[in-house]
Amino acid sequence: MTTAVEPGTAIDSAYAIELRGIVKRFPGVVANDGVNLRVREGTIHAIVGENGAGKSTLMKTLYGAHQPDEGDILIHGTRRTFRSPSAAIDMGIGMVFQHFMLADNFTVWENIVLGSEPGHLRLNMRKARRRIRELSEQYGLEVDPDELVADLGVGDKQRVEILKVLYRGARILILDEPTAVLVPHEVTELFASLEQLTQQGATVIFISHKLDEVLGNADAITVIRAGKTVGEIDDPSTVTAGELAEMMVGSELPSPETREATVRDDVRLEVVGLTIESAPTGVDTVALAAGLAGGIESSGTPTSHRPLDDVSLRVHSGEIVGIAGVEGNGQTELIEAIMGLRPASGIVKVDEQDVSELSNTARRNAGIGYVAEDRQRDGMVLSMTLWENVILGHQAGDDFTHRGLIDRDAARERTRQVVEEFDVRTPGIDVSAFTLSGGNQQKLIVGREMMAKPHVLIAAHPTRGVDVGAQAVIWDILRQARSDGLATLLISADLDELIGLSDRLLVMLRGKVVAEVDPQTVTPAELGSYMTGAHQHDGRSASGSPGDGEAPA
Ligand SMILES: Nc1ncnc2c1ncn2[C@@H]1O[C@H](COP(=O)(O)OP(=O)(O)OP(=O)(O)O)[C@@H](O)[C@H]1O
Ligand SMILES: [Mg+2]
Repeated sequence: MTTAVEPGTAIDSAYAIELRGIVKRFPGVVANDGVNLRVREGTIHAIVGENGAGKSTLMKTLYGAHQPDEGDILIHGTRRTFRSPSAAIDMGIGMVFQHFMLADNFTVWENIVLGSEPGHLRLNMRKARRRIRELSEQYGLEVDPDELVADLGVGDKQRVEILKVLYRGARILILDEPTAVLVPHEVTELFASLEQLTQQGATVIFISHKLDEVLGNADAITVIRAGKTVGEIDDPSTVTAGELAEMMVGSELPSPETREATVRDDVRLEVVGLTIESAPTGVDTVALAAGLAGGIESSGTPTSHRPLDDVSLRVHSGEIVGIAGVEGNGQTELIEAIMGLRPASGIVKVDEQDVSELSNTARRNAGIGYVAEDRQRDGMVLSMTLWENVILGHQAGDDFTHRGLIDRDAARERTRQVVEEFDVRTPGIDVSAFTLSGGNQQKLIVGREMMAKPHVLIAAHPTRGVDVGAQAVIWDILRQARSDGLATLLISADLDELIGLSDRLLVMLRGKVVAEVDPQTVTPAELGSYMTGAHQHDGRSASGSPGDGEAPA
């Protein structure tokens, strides 16, 4: 146990940040159990560890959002206590959360300035915008200060969040899973900016589950397991992803199963001519992405296409069909239209039954399982208990109702099964969902959907935020369900996941399905060029004709 020293006391420390013996307890859980972290000034430092290991908790403690029960925070060798995030910000520490906290209806510059200069907004407007331009040029964080945040893609929003932190003068930047929502070229962009930041003296700490990206970009790595520091790696070139994973989970990872075809003849999900007419106010994310990647010189052109344009596809029993695309090209609209969450014209059939006119609940009861894109917004109610979340969306079915009443015992039993089978780390099933770590929330949702034994699964980013071990488990469960006859429509920003799981891959661009590629032969780079429209495809469009033919690419 560390003996606390007086705040303001100078201590010998060669580090920009040193956390010594941090303990943080929550009811029933010791989230941090004596964690040590040492970060050198001007470096990019990665924190890795299983879901629930205590990474976010530790960072929130450094950021002043949690008070540690024990331990010391040393900033440049001086002990500090932060009663609140604003105290941490005053010391030059800023944090970007995985869930963006931007106000959609304000412009980029308003969001950046918002809250940092109360009462003087008008006065400093010109200065503020000039400062944003400077910062954005200095660190290669391209944004248009006058654009509305609602019109931005994920990558842009993240740049705004980083600028917001820099605008407040942060020299120490904490990023909690910054790349979970990014597509590959955005990841490259992000790390280029972080590199520039550290070259100019800033210090960056980031959390990630993507071990290759950690090894490729971090100057040093700290591994946390069950609330303790189990590894400090000063030279990442001395470890492999496999070794890191082993340190994280304390045992070897299962090797991935080989793929064998299980596709059957019966069509379980059929979508014909699905269309959403109203044009969004959004920017053309394809042009943006291509622009960022150094291609087309357009950025922020308003879209003129339909959000979802005459999409037809079929998913057979025993088949996983992947949808690849740059975020904002109709993938969200497609799955929400299939789930009855957005008005759309066209037909949706499940096991040959036309469900186009049915409500979301009725579609679920017809056999569709759904892992939503944004788990906190659409997948769960954070203030409800785990078992209440497990019956969410399934309360109208037969499983948990008995003569019209919710069968609590059945619901609780199912929750225990989900927690067990999907290894959801929690002290119990009566805690609120918000107390779960991000990855454990995700496991709960995937578990809930899979345990309901759907015929069709619509899965958006099923392993977003889960650790490598849990990812392997979820992949295995999806493959097993596939060989048992499940028809899965998979959306993912993780190209390795798309390529690794899918039997067929469709590419969406500007609301349309523009190509079908064979995941057995396509490379991530090729897939990326289809996604940005850079690839010359053979003109085959899967729209209009149900896309279940042979892969032409
Ligand atoms: N506000 C809270 N109340 C109760 N328990 C909490 C709270 N926040 C976190 N915990 C618990 O603390 C532990 C560590 O959670 P934390 O969010 O730090 O994990 P993590 O390493 O960030 O995991 P992930 O990779 O899934 O994001 C978990 O067991 C979690 O359930
Ligand atoms: Mg976390």
